[in-house]
Amino acid sequence: MKNKFSKAVIPAFFIVMLLVTGSSFKAISGQPPVTGDVLYRKTCRMCHGNDGTKGMFGAKNLQISKLETAAIVQQIREGKGNMPSFKNRFSGEELAVLADYVKSFRQH
Ligand code: HEC
Repeated sequence: MKNKFSKAVIPAFFIVMLLVTGSSFKAISGQPPVTGDVLYRKTCRMCHGNDGTKGMFGAKNLQISKLETAAIVQQIREGKGNMPSFKNRFSGEELAVLADYVKSFRQH
């Protein structure tokens, strides 16, 4: 009796899990969350580090940077020195979100 029960319940459990995870994947790909955190981790962290201070390839310390938002957006689009250009990578909205995120590293 106990055996029969678990044989039915376990596959049912997996089907439910599949449906749940399947639908949440759909929600994610249908409407990507545009957060500075996600964009930064994917694209900038390798050089600038979690807190903006890593300095890989001569990357500037983002905690002491004094660039205005427009200049940050410009630099992400055009690149500078060892920093590559991300011209076609981000939408205008994503650039603005990224610039805000970069500024959030500052201590002052
Ligand atoms: C390949 C390494 C690399 C990557 C990836 C990278 N950067 Fe940079 N970043 C640099 C370097 C090197 C500099 C210094 C450029 C210079 O002035 O010569 C820099 C400078 C900057 C500055 C200017 C700081 C200042 O005060 O002058 C900002 C802002 C910045 N990066 C933001 C970003 C953002 C946002 C991303 C992700 C979209 C990113 N970086 C990705 C290497 C990188």
